[in-house]
Amino acid sequence: MNKKIAVIKGDGIGPEIVTEAMKVLDRVAEVYGHSFEYEQLLMGGASIDVNGVPLTDETIERCKASDAVLMGSIGGDTNTSPWYKLPPEKRPEAGLLGIRKALGLFANLRPSVLYPQLSGACPLKEEISSKGFDMLIMRELTGGLYFGARKTEEIDGVMTAIDTLTYNENEIRRIAVKAFDVAMKRRRKVTSVDKANVLDSSRLWRKVVNEVAKDYPEVTLEHMLVDNSAMQLVKDPAQFDVMVTENMFGDILSDEASMITGSIGMLASASMNETKFGLYEPSGGSAPDIAGQNKANPIATILSAAMMLRFSFDMNAEADAVEAAVKQVLDNGIRTGDIMSEGMTLVSCSGMGDAIAAAIK
Ligand code: IPM
Ligand code: MG
Repeated sequence: MNKKIAVIKGDGIGPEIVTEAMKVLDRVAEVYGHSFEYEQLLMGGASIDVNGVPLTDETIERCKASDAVLMGSIGGDTNTSPWYKLPPEKRPEAGLLGIRKALGLFANLRPSVLYPQLSGACPLKEEISSKGFDMLIMRELTGGLYFGARKTEEIDGVMTAIDTLTYNENEIRRIAVKAFDVAMKRRRKVTSVDKANVLDSSRLWRKVVNEVAKDYPEVTLEHMLVDNSAMQLVKDPAQFDVMVTENMFGDILSDEASMITGSIGMLASASMNETKFGLYEPSGGSAPDIAGQNKANPIATILSAAMMLRFSFDMNAEADAVEAAVKQVLDNGIRTGDIMSEGMTLVSCSGMGDAIAAAIK
């Protein structure tokens, strides 16, 4: 098969980790007889430096013309980078939010798996980590506080900032359907996370999720308040299969879910629209402190590329091969710094990419 992949390397460690994911994709192409054609595009800080804005119409159009988008990370050090002297709508993150909206990527899938090989890197007590876990956060990505009207103004002499959290029933229904569909292919349990004891948007969320659940009698549904969910994630993560939640709660809980796997450098993500089109990126940030040092962990990006093979290209055997190669390399004791432990072999970002590519048979 011949596929066109739009590549946005982005900022910070983005270029390094995406280069390794492309190395792995090239190996997949070689072994399975495909051809992947890459088109590199600018977004975020890299785009500000060249175009003065974090996202151009050109980048959006080229992404739309591709079969899928592979992305690294966006943004810099908010304390020192000149990008953060710009007004908020011109900063790197505005490009990321803009492309999610422009491509209609409302469903963000963030699988969180504790590999037995990394249980030592898990910060939880052994009695919890030894059980392992395999969950997926289905985060709504184009609504809620991220996209509601906002302003900062002086009201009666007092500076006041306003953000708005809006969800309509259609936005809730379509993400709930995605969550139940995914649960049907997994362990058939959905935990819907909200703050229905306080927020109207959460009460509507709960009502609509209950309606959608009627079409999936084989799936067990439970509702959980977001504060309790944060607690349950560190107390007993194995209880979760699919967790579905709104944009902001999903942002926060997915960072927590990533850390208990040992490192945020392990967490892949896929952002999808109603079709098979998606943007694939690691869940972690641009890590400006280690950028350019060939130290970053490329596994999250490589696993995101595997999600691209599976969801956008229907290449299941190829995706399985990439995931198996990651496990194989971990079994062989190969580690980047973030997941390093005694007795293992420390490798660079490119060393990890080489090892995983070589393990694809
Ligand atoms: C993420 C990131 C982004 C988000 C930031 C960079 C705007 O934290 O993808 O989780 O909040 O969605
Ligand atoms: Mg985040």
